[in-house]
Amino acid sequence: MTTQGDILQDHIIAEAWKALEDSVIYYDGRPVGTVAARDPDVEPLNYNQCFVRDFVSCALLFLLNGKTEIVRNFLIETLALQDETKQMDYFNAGQGLMPASFKVATSYGEQFLTADFGEHAIARVTPVDSSLWWIILLRAYVKTTGDIALAHQPEFQKGLIHILKLCLADRFDMFPTMLVPDGAFMIDRRMGVYGHPLEIQALFYGALRAVRELLAPDRQGEIYSLVVDQRLRTLNFHIRTYYWLDIKRLNEIYRYQGEEFGDKAVNKFNIYPDSIPYWLTEWMPETGGYLAGNLGPARMDFRFFTVGNLMAIICSLSSPQESQWIMDLIEQRWDDLVGNMPMKICFPAVEGLEWKILTGCDPKNVPWSYHNGGNWPVLLWLLAAAAQKTGRPHIARNAIALAEKRLSQDQWPEYYDGKNGRLVGKQARKYQTWTISGLLLAKHLMSHPGDLGLFDFDEDLETIDWTSSHLV
Ligand code: GLC
Repeated sequence: MTTQGDILQDHIIAEAWKALEDSVIYYDGRPVGTVAARDPDVEPLNYNQCFVRDFVSCALLFLLNGKTEIVRNFLIETLALQDETKQMDYFNAGQGLMPASFKVATSYGEQFLTADFGEHAIARVTPVDSSLWWIILLRAYVKTTGDIALAHQPEFQKGLIHILKLCLADRFDMFPTMLVPDGAFMIDRRMGVYGHPLEIQALFYGALRAVRELLAPDRQGEIYSLVVDQRLRTLNFHIRTYYWLDIKRLNEIYRYQGEEFGDKAVNKFNIYPDSIPYWLTEWMPETGGYLAGNLGPARMDFRFFTVGNLMAIICSLSSPQESQWIMDLIEQRWDDLVGNMPMKICFPAVEGLEWKILTGCDPKNVPWSYHNGGNWPVLLWLLAAAAQKTGRPHIARNAIALAEKRLSQDQWPEYYDGKNGRLVGKQARKYQTWTISGLLLAKHLMSHPGDLGLFDFDEDLETIDWTSSHLV
């Protein structure tokens, strides 16, 4: 029997699809992407552009609904942009960089695409995640359409190799994780997320797994596959061994000795126990855990970052047991991490002097707002994917029910503010495209769990280092 609730839900879905279709950008009459937001009341700034990271959830949804052409066009056009000069103050950035966003411009009646590689972005941040998402999306396109010929085209192979060269280049660094500047991903403002942030590492891992399926079986492809395999192995070991946090590990860190020299050191990164924040000693549940936000010399960022942890589950960067524990943590700390609107981008917010130092007194990132502990509905699709992957769909079902109550009524805001996510974000755009696609994709994954295969990865037994202590 159809209930009033069902009719309302159908109405919301239809409204969401209409809004998503209205956000499509056309280039020479062909669909090539979606704008970030269509808020009629606010100056667009760059929200009228197509952001690579924002388009991913739209693209997956389009692929799952037979609309493959827009995704193919997007992949081709963004690849062509890779060759553009990415210049700031006469300095040219590396070739593999993909743009944060692009838009269609017109000159003398001719349309052309212009891209932003960070040289126009607020604070000139580098979009490191774009190239990684681009590879993950190319794999999803190939998996849906079977069109491996596109990926094997010389232009695509060249593009993939450019990205790999940039990601795998030798650097002044001792870790297999990727070293990036602040604000290099979804959090594209100064937030103390420079160094080796988890979100980049999880996307890096996913992109490397994807590229193995996309490299052409020629000599160059074979050589790069070997290099990629080796990096996957060390990255997997490093993250599982050193980023993992649970009550047992916290106890170990709490009793760490400092200043250990040599290869027998237990406290390899010289983390001082006093750097464990007080909130964590109460917040860490008895069962459950998560991957730390960042790790470097004498520095462990103990904040919980959602995209990094959920992508780690989806890409099997976390072990099956760790993935279960991350979901345990989300369930047990529901009010903090999900609250009234799924879900928090990170927890907890930084406040006071720490906020001043980490954000540079950023008024948009005040505590419990925007990137600093705000709630972002787009994260729903990642939560749904992780919940399906770990066999715990009820977690996603409860979260979707919360989001559905508000999103359409509030006109699809970009983010929510407040410790419990009850307020529409102070500077949030309305009709934010990835809010819309995030809900639609999450709902799709609930009714079609098998479609997760488009972008998830199984535990890769070949790349696991069995000497790692945390593997279960
Ligand atoms: C903001 C977000 C970024 C997003 C962009 C467009 O800059 O921080 O993650 O891609 O808006 O929605």
